[in-house]
Amino acid sequence: MTKKILYRGAEAEILLSTYMGRTVVEKRRVQKAYRIKEIDRQLIASRTREEAKLMAESRRIGVSVPLIYDVDLFNGIITMEYLAGDRVKDILNILGKQKRKRICQKIGESIARLHNHDIIHGDITTSNMILFYDRLYFIDFGLGCKTIEIETKAVDLHVLMEAFESTHSQYSSCFNNVLDGYKKNYRGDPVRVLHTIDDIIRRGRYR
Ligand SMILES: Nc1ncnc2c1ncn2[C@@H]1O[C@H](COP(=O)(O)OP(=O)(O)O)[C@@H](O)[C@H]1O
Ligand SMILES: [Mg+2]
Repeated sequence: MTKKILYRGAEAEILLSTYMGRTVVEKRRVQKAYRIKEIDRQLIASRTREEAKLMAESRRIGVSVPLIYDVDLFNGIITMEYLAGDRVKDILNILGKQKRKRICQKIGESIARLHNHDIIHGDITTSNMILFYDRLYFIDFGLGCKTIEIETKAVDLHVLMEAFESTHSQYSSCFNNVLDGYKKNYRGDPVRVLHTIDDIIRRGRYR
């Protein structure tokens, strides 16, 4: 089968392909001409490994992510389930009010679950969430890491806050619904995380 390019980013390209009879996505990290070849290989391998590990762990703790079929560290390819759903970014604004609210709470609940296990997604935007068969999936853990730090968890949420302000600005209550879901499910002290978000907002204002 010929592979179809779904998306081409700065670091990776997303190809539609097949694997053992299934339609899959290959996330392929691209080499950078400006990086020394050997160092580039190592960088690509370690980022691919990290992303696959975070995806696998997220699945174990009950956050939906694409199923991984294969990881090729040498070539920097993760072969995963193709989610033939809708990016949350594309549908959130056209959903009914109740459904939108429910999804936002679900987003918060899923982030809390990740944070309960010290998983930082690193790029929580509505482009990196897919709704598939009424289930919310997170993709793109390429900037993720593991940490117990409150500050990093707050930054994780703040990225989403800014994404909501730019992409879904007419629905200002959405992010509050996210925080509601988060507060109900985060097992640490959610108030500390929320205060830290306030600090980040304040610092941003006086920058
Ligand atoms: N498993 C998947 N199923 C369906 N679409 C996907 C999948 N993985 C990625 N995509 C699509 O490709 C885009 C880019 O993938 P992503 O992993 O976010 O790459 P990048 O790190 O370059 O942002 C996503 O926004 C989504 O539209
Ligand atoms: Mg992305």
